[in-house]
Amino acid sequence: MGDLRSSVQVPVTVLVNGRSYTVDVEPRLLLVHLLRDVLGLTGTHIGCDTSQCGACTVLVDGKAVKSCTMLAVQADGCSVTTIEGIGSVENLHPVQEGFWEKHGLQCGFCTPGVIMAAADLLRQHPNPTDEEIREGLEGVICRCTGYQNIVRAVRYAAERMQSADGEVEVAATAGLDRGEGSQGGATS
Ligand code: FES
Ligand code: FES
Repeated sequence: MGDLRSSVQVPVTVLVNGRSYTVDVEPRLLLVHLLRDVLGLTGTHIGCDTSQCGACTVLVDGKAVKSCTMLAVQADGCSVTTIEGIGSVENLHPVQEGFWEKHGLQCGFCTPGVIMAAADLLRQHPNPTDEEIREGLEGVICRCTGYQNIVRAVRYAAERMQSADGEVEVAATAGLDRGEGSQGGATS
């Protein structure tokens, strides 16, 4: 007789990067595993699995969430944006552009999470000081310790977003409409 606990499945419907998915999952499945293992969106990384590093950060209904701290069933009915959906190769999100222009990454492992956290930070503080950027990103850890350039990248994005006057939303929507996008953070 099989293990009944592991055979229980519940339906979950999530809108991920503008595309709707309905899947049956175990109640204990974490959102990060839904994204990576079920939906194949491996741009969201797992660094610690214990809510420390922020590598798994995604946007849930627009707010940055560490996806290893949330059950997939808790995201039922929510809109999730991952690094694959925030911009595209042709139309980078300003934060992605900032990381490119200011060399905001080294190994790139933390980058998807940092970009998602920065996008939420700029949503809340469109014109942050360097101190506010550091404070806003304290939940994401870069093991390469490239914080100085990360701050420069986010500041670049803030200036870019201010001057673009709405272009950001257009860029993000373009990626969502297609249900596709780039792996905005390098993984190697
Ligand atoms: S993997 Fe989620 S915080 Fe580290
Ligand atoms: S760039 Fe290597 S962990 Fe952040």
